[in-house]
Amino acid sequence: MDPCELAPSYVRAIAPYQPGKPISELAREMGLDERSIIKLASNENPRGIGPRTRAAIDAAIADIARYPDGNGFELKAALSKRYGVDMASIVLGNGSNDVLELVALAFLAPGRSAVYSQHAFAVYPLATQARGARGIQVPAKNYGHDLQAMAKAIADDTHVVWIANPNNPTGTLAAADALEAFVRGVPPRVIVVIDEAYNEYLPAAERSDTVKWLKRYPNLIVTRTFSKAYGLAGLRAGYAFAQASVADVMNRVRQPFNVNSLALAAASAALDDMEFVAKSYAENLQGLRQLEEGATGLGLDYIPSRGNFVSIRVGKAAEIYKRLLRRGVIVRPVAGYEMPEHLRVTVGLPAENEKFLAALAASLRD
Ligand SMILES: Cc1ncc(COP(=O)(O)O)c(C=O)c1O
Repeated sequence: MDPCELAPSYVRAIAPYQPGKPISELAREMGLDERSIIKLASNENPRGIGPRTRAAIDAAIADIARYPDGNGFELKAALSKRYGVDMASIVLGNGSNDVLELVALAFLAPGRSAVYSQHAFAVYPLATQARGARGIQVPAKNYGHDLQAMAKAIADDTHVVWIANPNNPTGTLAAADALEAFVRGVPPRVIVVIDEAYNEYLPAAERSDTVKWLKRYPNLIVTRTFSKAYGLAGLRAGYAFAQASVADVMNRVRQPFNVNSLALAAASAALDDMEFVAKSYAENLQGLRQLEEGATGLGLDYIPSRGNFVSIRVGKAAEIYKRLLRRGVIVRPVAGYEMPEHLRVTVGLPAENEKFLAALAASLRD
């Protein structure tokens, strides 16, 4: 017997997460110079990190031989001050992906189900399945969450509803009033996760006041990350806000040192790199426009996006993806998201966006 069969069948059935192709891998495969490759495949911040963040990482290296603060006091204090949330209501994670896994670990199990939308972030079905829970996928509406259909899909055994706002890879946004009406209507026995990984890329007027909602809806969990606008994808730091008792059960299933010391120091400092985040926000909007106008110029449709990426309908996406790779441009195919004609492109620096659009034009002609 192959010992892998000792794993529960629901674990063996998991399809692996498909990350963006690393630059070094493409360089190896194609014999290309790494410096000639652009990667617009993982919704990273092409501007890097802010100056305070960099200084904090440099300073934290001196103490790297020690375990991190398992309670993340400094980062929780900084988040508490910024958002007016009690420290007892904060859960820190090795990226917000880790926090999503903690939700699944704490609230899902065989015999339970979780509701999520078609085209929603891939980690929701993965985390659900890894716990042996049943996933209930609800058809999307214009690529976005159909909140009314999701409310109807909640079953007697449903314990979690996952919502990405904005969603990746569609970039769609549920408006604040519709989203709050949805949360209000969900039975209190069901946890609602609102994943705001791209929150910092939204104009203030389009953000939902989810932090205030926490007081009204004790079953609500809001997750955010330092991987996107703050530029810390490689270090891994994310967090959740939740009612203190909910945060408490999530912390019980957390590894004691799940966030490393460099990530803790960097994330605490990143909250003060306001100018960097403001610049990232403004340049992202310009970059989105550049990509959207470029797509239109090539006669292609795209899904209007509120994130730092846009999904463009290129037709034979798997083939165009390969042609782009040959030109040293890495984007993300999204066939696994039931979007076989789209490619998701992360907003890069202006020159990178230009290089992508030129490579796309050439790849469409090949
Ligand atoms: C919607 C959404 N949520 C969560 C994440 C997880 O990001 P991280 O674990 O880097 O915080 C991502 C990453 O792409 C995402 O798109």
